[in-house]
Amino acid sequence: MIKTKDRRAREAFVAAANLQVGNRVLDLGWEGDCLACLRGTGARVTFVAEDIRAVHRGNGVLSTTPSQVVANAHVVFYKPAQKAAKGQVFEWIDEGFRALELGGVLYLAGQRNRGVRSYAKYIQAVFGNCKRAGRVGRLEMYSAQKELPDPLQAPVDNRISFELDDLPHGPYGVETRAGVFSRDGLDPGTELLINCMDIRPTDQVLDWGCGWGALGMVAARLAGRGRATLVDSNIRAIACAKNNLKRNQIRNAAARVKDARVYDGKEKYDLIVSNPPLHDGNAAAHPLIEGAFHALRPGGRLMLVVMRPEPYLKHIRRIFGQGQIAARKDGYAALVARVGNSQMVQAFMAVKDEV
Ligand SMILES: C[S@@+](CC[C@H](N)C(=O)[O-])C[C@H]1O[C@@H](n2cnc3c(N)ncnc32)[C@H](O)[C@@H]1O
Repeated sequence: MIKTKDRRAREAFVAAANLQVGNRVLDLGWEGDCLACLRGTGARVTFVAEDIRAVHRGNGVLSTTPSQVVANAHVVFYKPAQKAAKGQVFEWIDEGFRALELGGVLYLAGQRNRGVRSYAKYIQAVFGNCKRAGRVGRLEMYSAQKELPDPLQAPVDNRISFELDDLPHGPYGVETRAGVFSRDGLDPGTELLINCMDIRPTDQVLDWGCGWGALGMVAARLAGRGRATLVDSNIRAIACAKNNLKRNQIRNAAARVKDARVYDGKEKYDLIVSNPPLHDGNAAAHPLIEGAFHALRPGGRLMLVVMRPEPYLKHIRRIFGQGQIAARKDGYAALVARVGNSQMVQAFMAVKDEV
């Protein structure tokens, strides 16, 4: 439900463009969600997003390159998400420029304390112009017209590469991009989970919310005669994960975009691993735990890494009947639960304690 103040801000943003019936509009999202108020304008609107959940909600197109979805747009609207990485926002401003026809206008909104002035500065560098188009409360709006066919500066390249030598069956060559979780290196929570993953050679493993693919890549190499499935709701993350599987020649794994909260009942796994999106709270954690219980074969395990284990353990125990902390380090806790009887669980935990 959109609050009145926010709805007014969206309407003011759209009104600033003075749209005409039939205008081609690229909607790059308002905090990642579609600008529903564009529907009443008579413009031909295409909403492009990188997260499949937003695409489903807004009836949009999933893409990391919106300019390949919409060409010759009259207007582009964009309000970056508050938690968006700056480099990712810069990439989308470049994409907005490419998607516009000559004379077309980009509108960008944001708050001063959320970096909107640095975005305006970047727009100025790309378009050669940028002006204040309005203000609603703390929200500032900027606009820039595409006056030249080419941008005044080269598009940003946010890719970074590094090598991970100390992981099981390493080394792994990794490439990531701005906007993907822990893009500068392995997250310490993920590392803890990797170091307590017990994987058999024939296991079928699901990496729930794979990001650039750390857990899934290691799982695939450990399950040499098994398979790893990497899923993430974000197409940018999946593009990185696919690329990383390829550059490490991991053939018994595949990555795909999916809202992993939706369990289709078809696939079964021996192990589900996840460093879950904790900022989503129970909206992600509960479906993950409940879905895992159904998606695991008898004897199958769920392994999660979290920072405050108590509420997760509570829900795990409610669903699985048991669940333990397998390891703790630097404020992270790796949790494990197994589908099966309690004797199996005791045996499993005894083996882990010996390691
Ligand atoms: C904390 S990050 C962990 C990424 C990676 N596994 C790692 O350890 O580096 C959580 C990931 O879950 C993804 N995610 C969030 N909600 C999701 C959902 N409903 N379905 C699939 N992936 C989701 C996010 O896009 C993000 O990449």
